[in-house]
Amino acid sequence: MIKLSPSILSADYAHLGRDMELARQGGADYIHLDVMDGRFVPNITIGAPVVQSLRKATQLPLDVHLMIKDPDRYIGAFMDAGADIITLHVEALGRQRLENAIKAIRAAGKKAGLTLRPSTPVKSLVPYLSMLDLVLVMTVEPGFGGQKLIPETLQKISLLRSLCEDHGYTYEIEADGGINMENAATLVRAGANVIVAGSAVFENEDVPAAVREFKRLLSDAEGGAPTEPGSGA
Ligand code: DX5
Ligand code: ZN
Repeated sequence: MIKLSPSILSADYAHLGRDMELARQGGADYIHLDVMDGRFVPNITIGAPVVQSLRKATQLPLDVHLMIKDPDRYIGAFMDAGADIITLHVEALGRQRLENAIKAIRAAGKKAGLTLRPSTPVKSLVPYLSMLDLVLVMTVEPGFGGQKLIPETLQKISLLRSLCEDHGYTYEIEADGGINMENAATLVRAGANVIVAGSAVFENEDVPAAVREFKRLLSDAEGGAPTEPGSGA
């Protein structure tokens, strides 16, 4: 099954509990939380106290994407707050600190993910692949919702899928940024099995219907359902 992880970056921050519930009603699998510090990326979003409140408002797994400097200093706080998956940027830390952080996340019984900017090559992830539960491929430059997907990043998804098959790695492959109902099937065909979508989910009048439609589309793409040329899929 292909999973959908709606990103609340495009939800209404005054009504996050309601918006997560609408996503759940439509069949969302995870809730994607973008943590930004104004240093690793230009934008500032939420910290651990908000995650702690969101934890009480949903049973869905919280998929936390840390776009912050020194993320290893904060993983304890996010785990205590109730994060289920914690994804770090490979550019944020050197090898030893990154390995220690991944081990600490897994030792706490949480899932550890690693991600990379569009300009960072997949080879920078190779030393860690056997330790990971998830690899997140940024399909836009991290920092903002509502951007256009960078098509070249799809090659990374295919490469990570082949590495997974060749070496028996078990990580999920998540794609994040600029994904909508027109291009989502392409990402699934490239090898992604978790799709993040912010604006394409929450900038809809009827969020549950949008999530249901997205999930149907992902399931068709997984089954290899034929798509009409020009249908946008
Ligand atoms: C960008 C974030 C994304 C963002 C995606 O830095 O990592 O998760 O919310 O938003 P859309 O789907 O609108 O591109
Ligand atoms: Zn994200």
